[in-house]
Amino acid sequence: MRVVLGVGGGIAAYKSAELVRALQQRGHRVQVVMTNAAQQFVQPLTFAALTAQKVITGLFSQESPQDTLGSAVEHIAIAQENDLLAVAPATADLLAKFAHGLADDFLSTLYLAFTGPVLVAPAMNTAMWEHPATIANLNLLRERGVSIVEPDAGWLACGTMGAGRLPDPEQIAEAIDSMTAARRDLEGESILITAGPTQEPIDPVRYISNRSSGKMGYALASEAVRRGARVTLISGPVDLPVPRGVDLVRIRTAREMYDAVLAALEPATIIIKSAAVADYYVADVPKQKIKKTATRFSLDLEPTPDILAAVGERKGDRLLIGFAAETENMIAEARRKMVSKKCDMVVANLVNRDGLGFESDQNEVEILTRAGQIVHAGPAGKKEIAARILDQVARLRLALQAVEA
Ligand code: CTP
Repeated sequence: MRVVLGVGGGIAAYKSAELVRALQQRGHRVQVVMTNAAQQFVQPLTFAALTAQKVITGLFSQESPQDTLGSAVEHIAIAQENDLLAVAPATADLLAKFAHGLADDFLSTLYLAFTGPVLVAPAMNTAMWEHPATIANLNLLRERGVSIVEPDAGWLACGTMGAGRLPDPEQIAEAIDSMTAARRDLEGESILITAGPTQEPIDPVRYISNRSSGKMGYALASEAVRRGARVTLISGPVDLPVPRGVDLVRIRTAREMYDAVLAALEPATIIIKSAAVADYYVADVPKQKIKKTATRFSLDLEPTPDILAAVGERKGDRLLIGFAAETENMIAEARRKMVSKKCDMVVANLVNRDGLGFESDQNEVEILTRAGQIVHAGPAGKKEIAARILDQVARLRLALQAVEA
């Protein structure tokens, strides 16, 4: 893996040299970026010698001013060339910059431009570590899917005892390893994922929909691609970037999703139905806008086709994973849906909790299998939840293959 290691300005910066070594020993290629403050603690030459590469020390090249344009766009190139960004030690200042999107030096600019996995290993004085501002910044980063290696407790360089010490470089390298471990455990699978809400028109300007943001389904799609699967994503209207490497089919209504899913079913080996499909629609949508009247108004709704149940009927030996969005009796309802829709697995979540599930970046789920297992995941960012769900999917796939063999 290609790891870009950001070194922040703290007394622990010297340990980053050992971290470079530990990463190299694990077969990673390391590019070092140092903040100005870091250079007060350790010379860039140390890292240049260890990595046999130029160390990036600023946004603009001072060595060769004529190269300024090249340097000014270097953060984009570095962001694209590397698989993972690790920052160790991450100072309180860097965490604040990352959390609030400041981009006034190379490392903070790189952080914003980087779309891959990010790990931070904070190190600072205990009072700074426990300050509400640092806690809030870390929570923001965690919500956005940044992995955090918590500092150790012990004697700190400032002469106090408490939490804030950079963990052993081996431990950080281990954490980086487990993030980058190229788990291509979905290689050869063709996964069909549905995501987002559907919109059911009432008239030319109005529709029935729900609060689904599509974030869970999109996170599943990008994680599945990362793990080697071919992914077709059938998505209702959402405001999200298209995940890299995914075949996207955009639909609007439940009927369109039904048609798109059945059309894409044949090559699929795994189907994950995370979409929040409308249960009812207006069969005869008037051509003209419905006018307001002084009396009560009611809509005549017909049930939409149950896509998951339809796939369940045709599933063959495909793995079928449904979602159950509940406000009460979550496990019982999820079990009922698993049986009635012929799913192999159901991901259940409560959707009436603030800050979790619908519209949120966070989720907490129970993953139920046909065999009666229940695996809990979260609360965590949807990227992390997607990884945990796919762990279970890959495990189930292996178990079924073992039974067949
Ligand atoms: N689903 C579907 N087609 C529908 C409705 C739901 O494919 N017309 C799928 C969803 O994508 C999800 C699962 O069924 O994977 C469960 O959705 P949910 O809204 O929780 O359940 P419903 O079947 O709609 O049941 P209820 O409204 O009683 O909770």
